[in-house]
Amino acid sequence: MNRPRPVDSAFVPSTTTGDKNMANRAETVISEIVKAVREVLKRHDVTFEEYRAGVGFLMQYAKAPEYEIPLVCDLWFNATITDNEMNHRKGSVTNVEGPYFLESIPTITDRIKTRGDGGEELIIEGKVVDLAGKPVEGAELYIWHSDHEGEYSGFNPEISPDFYRGKKIIDSTGAFSIRTVVPVPYMIPHQGPSGKMLELMGRHPWRPAHVHFKVRAPGFLEHTTQAYFAGEKWVDSDCVEAVRPALVHKLQERGGVKVLKKDFVLDPA
Ligand code: DHB
Ligand code: FE
Repeated sequence: MNRPRPVDSAFVPSTTTGDKNMANRAETVISEIVKAVREVLKRHDVTFEEYRAGVGFLMQYAKAPEYEIPLVCDLWFNATITDNEMNHRKGSVTNVEGPYFLESIPTITDRIKTRGDGGEELIIEGKVVDLAGKPVEGAELYIWHSDHEGEYSGFNPEISPDFYRGKKIIDSTGAFSIRTVVPVPYMIPHQGPSGKMLELMGRHPWRPAHVHFKVRAPGFLEHTTQAYFAGEKWVDSDCVEAVRPALVHKLQERGGVKVLKKDFVLDPA
């Protein structure tokens, strides 16, 4: 599995070095990060040999594909930033976007296109409402997930982005019901230094099976989240440590078809 991982165009270097507030914030955050690292180095009596090995390890990133640095940052810190996001929201729980979101995807009514060559059928249903429980008519619900082999369309060159992705326009009832197939666990690219780091730590490179969602509606904050399935492999040991209890859903069954219930409560902008 030599899947390419895209580089998020949102990762742009700061150009606001003259900003005084920014300087204060940088001083606070960076100096406290350094302090926290120093405390760990002291607590574990880290030696020169280990220090040099660590720096040598980081130097591998200079020669690695460009996506390796965003990948390692996602591994350790992306989910923390989404947790922070919830400090300022009262709606449903948000989660990491991951690198495989695409803007341009088919608008759907009740079915996401799948290649029909495997995978168990899945119905995803729920509603999109505001904090008062009122339907958010006109909201755009983006859904994307891996195929039944853990591949993302539009990134695996063999799978057109028309598949395993869809945008549903929410009507006045707020409710939606979409048919697709059940995704499977996903392995992050592990050939590079980030994969080596996990291996060195005795960890695996897997994410539990998940479905991605993004909801956009005028007057509301953009809502990006995921759904995980209770009892599935890796749910308790996600390599990017992004699983949150509110996002682990017990799959129901109706007429032999798996059903994922997922409601979205949007926060006002
Ligand atoms: C990554 C991949 C995903 O599919 C996801 O949901 C989150 C993170 C990653 O490669 O970092
Ligand atoms: Fe994903």
